[in-house]
Amino acid sequence: GTLSTFAAYADADYVAPSGIHKLRGRLREAGYVESEVCERLGKNPQELEPTDLPYLDRFALGSGDLEDLLRLFQLRAAIGEDRARSLLGAEGYEFLLDQGAISSEGGLVLARVDLFPVGELVVATDHRYQVLESDKLSEDPVMYLGLDSVGLVNTAPRVDVESHLDLCTGSGVQALVAASYSDFVIGVDLNPRAIRFARFNADLNEIDHVDFRLGNLYEPVANEQFDSITANPPFVPSPNESLGFRDGGRNGEAILSCIVQGAGEKLRANGRLSIVTDLVDPDQYIEKISNWWSGGAICGLILTTADRDEALFSVPHARAPFGQSYEEYSEELSRWVNSYRSASLGTVNFGYILLQENSEAGVENHIVQRVVSSPMDPIYDQARELVNLLVFDTEDNLGRFEFTPAPGLRVQTERRLDGSTLKNEILVPDNPWFTRYRLEANLLGLLEEAGASPLSWVNLGERGLVQQARALVEKGLLVGRLRQDAPPAVCGLPRAEVWPPCRIVIDELATKTTPTCVSNYLQ
Ligand SMILES: C[S@@+](CC[C@H](N)C(=O)[O-])C[C@H]1O[C@@H](n2cnc3c(N)ncnc32)[C@H](O)[C@@H]1O
Repeated sequence: GTLSTFAAYADADYVAPSGIHKLRGRLREAGYVESEVCERLGKNPQELEPTDLPYLDRFALGSGDLEDLLRLFQLRAAIGEDRARSLLGAEGYEFLLDQGAISSEGGLVLARVDLFPVGELVVATDHRYQVLESDKLSEDPVMYLGLDSVGLVNTAPRVDVESHLDLCTGSGVQALVAASYSDFVIGVDLNPRAIRFARFNADLNEIDHVDFRLGNLYEPVANEQFDSITANPPFVPSPNESLGFRDGGRNGEAILSCIVQGAGEKLRANGRLSIVTDLVDPDQYIEKISNWWSGGAICGLILTTADRDEALFSVPHARAPFGQSYEEYSEELSRWVNSYRSASLGTVNFGYILLQENSEAGVENHIVQRVVSSPMDPIYDQARELVNLLVFDTEDNLGRFEFTPAPGLRVQTERRLDGSTLKNEILVPDNPWFTRYRLEANLLGLLEEAGASPLSWVNLGERGLVQQARALVEKGLLVGRLRQDAPPAVCGLPRAEVWPPCRIVIDELATKTTPTCVSNYLQ
């Protein structure tokens, strides 16, 4: 039964039979990696709707090894037992059967788990869409990889570190990704089923420097400190408390606030905290974070996407596509909207909080907010570079940099027939780090100048253009590179001119992206 999925992994010291390594080999040979899976499905697994599954299975997906593995582990279709055995290898097949990850009946095999490719990793979770009677679990389900999961994978800066902590680890996906840049990783979750899945996933991907611990947030790591922390907490402002991976209290911040509050003493100097979350009334977050944070100064980014109002937010949460009557939907919708109102939520955005401990510079917090598209492709390098610049900014050392426009940047001009300009918009096509920006002529001029020849901070200071340049830097439109002739530490400008922080507002367009909400399929 499903209760016992990966039961053996309840024991942290369990050693799987060698068949599991052959299984990983089989999946890899068949091309079960993110790029090939996306190509074959015609979209990202995160974008699959439950209504897509039978169509893809029966009409769109051709035949082949990868196709049949996708039928089994993404599309909820049955495949013949002999076929499954040959695809997974005899030992892999037996192992998955033993662990309750597949089931076999009357010569047909069904998966009990979904397998998500993340780069070169493969991660098992409970079914994203629990649409069949037999999908019901008696334990809290382990979350599928959603846009939030993949978004954090693509956003959290990857910097080589000794130790990393992944809070709310679920399937373990963030911990396994962090293992690629950390000497040692600890993943923590409240749900015992998640810990078993996470240990299996580490085994499947042959990652042995990760330790998964059962418990509440920082409790299982009481005496340890880390260089970086990731967290994808339950963040949905919800009328329910029934779904452990989703419900974050009435305003969604119950777990989030604890994570930020506790991070100060868990992070080493210059340590990083990267979180994906719903952002309730996003313009208040710079203040909220400063209030929650207990520790030295911090630098960081709040990356937002689009605001949802009570209807945009509540409808997808209330709606289930199969087996829900109109009356049930209406009732459920009322619960979500009433909860939204009783919590006095203004808008619910979705995005990322990236913080870096900065107490060595010993100045005040420097947190910048900007809009991105929820990234299906990496933006972690750009995020790391921008936070770096903020750190240098607080240290008064931007004089060591020169600034050029972001690569790929374009200007789109709308003109009247008489040639007069209606508006200029800046964009960087197909790049989730950016949105579209409306720029005043003077800022556009500064970008054009930087395109012709790099701008030095000192020169900008002499011309009184530091605030304008800072506004462009904070939006990522001007990028800083260390000057080749940069001395170790030069004071670009007197402190008085560096602060107060930027007051020039650049008009950013909200992006379309909001996370697909599939939690309603789990009721
Ligand atoms: C949104 S899921 C994230 C799963 C995974 N990290 C990802 O990115 O896909 C949130 C997870 O947090 C866990 N969780 C909820 N409250 C927790 C707490 N207080 N301490 C530890 N884990 C918690 C849930 O069991 C669930 O697995």
